[in-house]
Amino acid sequence: MEVKKDIEGKYDKRNKLNDLTGKEWLKLTCSFWFSEKCADDKDAFKHPAPFLIKDIQKLISLFSKKGMRILDPFCGSATSLLASSYMGRYGIGIDLNSGYKELAKERLSKKGFEEFTHYEYHIGDSKDLLDNIINIDYIITSPPYHNILQNKGAGLRKESQKGYRNGSRIGIDYYSDMPNDLGNKKSYEDFLESLKAIMSKCFNVLNNKKYCSIIISDFTVDKKEVCVQGDVVRMMQEIGFEFVGTIAIFQSNKPLYPFGYPYTYKINHHHQNIINFRKVAK
Ligand SMILES: C[S@@+](CC[C@H](N)C(=O)[O-])C[C@H]1O[C@@H](n2cnc3c(N)ncnc32)[C@H](O)[C@@H]1O
Repeated sequence: MEVKKDIEGKYDKRNKLNDLTGKEWLKLTCSFWFSEKCADDKDAFKHPAPFLIKDIQKLISLFSKKGMRILDPFCGSATSLLASSYMGRYGIGIDLNSGYKELAKERLSKKGFEEFTHYEYHIGDSKDLLDNIINIDYIITSPPYHNILQNKGAGLRKESQKGYRNGSRIGIDYYSDMPNDLGNKKSYEDFLESLKAIMSKCFNVLNNKKYCSIIISDFTVDKKEVCVQGDVVRMMQEIGFEFVGTIAIFQSNKPLYPFGYPYTYKINHHHQNIINFRKVAK
């Protein structure tokens, strides 16, 4: 077996998944990660729920190689496209809200990345636009969390002194008023059904044996705690994806709220689930 010498470990030429050495790969198989911030995350704050760049870079490094095509069907402020461009992958994003494309272009052009050279961003409903996409090597995405941004208890937070959005609540901001926005689905069941329709099309465009990661946390529906992770895994298995494990990503700087105190136990969700799947076509 030929190997490339590297101070971080050795690269195995049989590795078809990524460009990591054995040591680097092993580190990322841990079932929990700590969320990592960087200064450029602030450029996305006009969007109510952006990813953090470094978290997505880690996923892209684990699940793809240089030159591969990465899809995000709920692209928002385009953190996934920025992370892909930084890492020499070609990112393809879709979002319903045209305002987010403006924000995305600002973020990407500030770093010297250009549309159709380094990435592409399409405006519209993923359910329709995915019919025009082919040959995807990795999908990283996060859908709206049903309608939780429209709850009075969720929404915008003031920036803390350190410049991160973990201060007191200052209002509500949601993605759009469009009926096909998954954040506007009347019931949780409608939300899951619409998500399934989009993820089924994602299955079609993903190359065989490649991976798909969905980032979502559990949340409450009508004040009742829901195991969203369980529902998403079942839904993806029904489509044909194989479930390959969840990474809990800790958000340790969020404040704790005394939701049920002193009467009932109510959980504070301080981690997101990165739920990972593989397409293994029969
Ligand atoms: C959780 S946010 C994604 C944020 C993104 N990861 C980022 O870093 O900015 C979900 C996004 O899904 C978009 N969206 C909702 N329904 C959609 C649909 N049917 N097709 C495409 N995008 C949709 C919303 O506009 C919103 O920007």
